[in-house]
Amino acid sequence: MEFEKRMIFHVDMDAFYASVEQLENPSYRGKPVIVGGVDSARGVVSTCSYEARVFGIHSAMPVAHARKRCPHGIYVNGRHEVYGNYSRRIMDCLSEFSPIIEQISVDEAFLDMTGTEKLFGSGETSARRLKENILKTVGLNASVGVAENKFLAKLASDHEKPNGLTVIRPGEAQAFLDPMSVGRLWGVGKKTIVDLHQAGYYTIAQLRAESLMVLERQFGENFAQHLYHLAQGKDDRELAEIETEKSISHERTFEFDTGDKEILLSALLDLSERVAQRARKHDLFGRTITLVWRNPDFSRQSHAQTLAQGTQSSEQIFAVIKMLFEKVGKIKYRLIGVRLSHFGPGNQQLSLFQSTPMPSKLDKAMDAVRERFGTDAIRRARLTGLEPEPPRD
Ligand code: TTP
Ligand code: MG
Repeated sequence: MEFEKRMIFHVDMDAFYASVEQLENPSYRGKPVIVGGVDSARGVVSTCSYEARVFGIHSAMPVAHARKRCPHGIYVNGRHEVYGNYSRRIMDCLSEFSPIIEQISVDEAFLDMTGTEKLFGSGETSARRLKENILKTVGLNASVGVAENKFLAKLASDHEKPNGLTVIRPGEAQAFLDPMSVGRLWGVGKKTIVDLHQAGYYTIAQLRAESLMVLERQFGENFAQHLYHLAQGKDDRELAEIETEKSISHERTFEFDTGDKEILLSALLDLSERVAQRARKHDLFGRTITLVWRNPDFSRQSHAQTLAQGTQSSEQIFAVIKMLFEKVGKIKYRLIGVRLSHFGPGNQQLSLFQSTPMPSKLDKAMDAVRERFGTDAIRRARLTGLEPEPPRD
């Protein structure tokens, strides 16, 4: 077996935002495309296509500088909801290959592929299949690195970008690492690289040739051991799987049992908004909307409705909750709550045409204000006068 201990993949999409723009706008293909805050005087580049990189344009560069370097480039504003949808679809493709996934950013993830050779073939074969799967289902190119640990897999995915596939087999790590700059070591930032250079270490080979004792004297015990192991290609970090939220819910307990329709609907509108806001924040679209409540005798009950498509819209969630509430009829409540669950991707087809599942302008404006000033900074007119409750999951 090629990888006896562990086989880790690192997947990173190529020029992610710019590639999405090129996919959706065929006239942009093969051209320098720059994505970022292109309308603002102080906007920065989020990313750019590989055609734009030859002009020296890169992420975090002021857009004004980019325009000087490449006046004929295509400059577009970032559309984050759209990239979020693509990201979810890419992660769905990855989950067909392994249940152990650590998503690092919108376009990047580690997969633990240990023991999958019988199912998908060698590291190289399965990485090729994975790349083909993403290209076929989503239409975008990924670069993939295959190695025995996370550190090496990440370096490997970067090695032949764009559209790269690099396998570092056990035993090959040293030759791969030795000529590299010490700046490629995980955890070595701008400041540490200066310290390493001052101590005379420029390449990983130089660091590897040093004894642990000397390094410990120079960099302290913990950091020295970290460097010493990485320089030898050793890294035993496990994948940190992020537990995805199964449901989002908010509830309110009343001081007195109440059957007052106005009070109850106001509370439900507020709770629906809180749930929707959290869904939008985490980029989740839920298909099942549930009205939960406690009766005066403290017994719990619920009514649910499942939609054909996931939503994260305050209006849509409240509309369903209101319908469920009307169905319950006239009773007294001790507590009421709103729950959103059954998460999946938003409907890509619809979101491309900016239709209903996208957050409304009002939703977005309210999210922006709440993000800056706190949840209670802005509330719809009918809610004023009601005390907010702390969120509960
Ligand atoms: P990266 O994977 O770092 O870059 P990339 O996918 O555009 O290009 P590469 O082929 O080199 O991987 O980041 C993923 C996305 O994150 C990128 O498309 C845009 C966004 N991003 C920013 O908004 N600002 C930044 O400074 C960086 C680095 C990325
Ligand atoms: Mg990328």
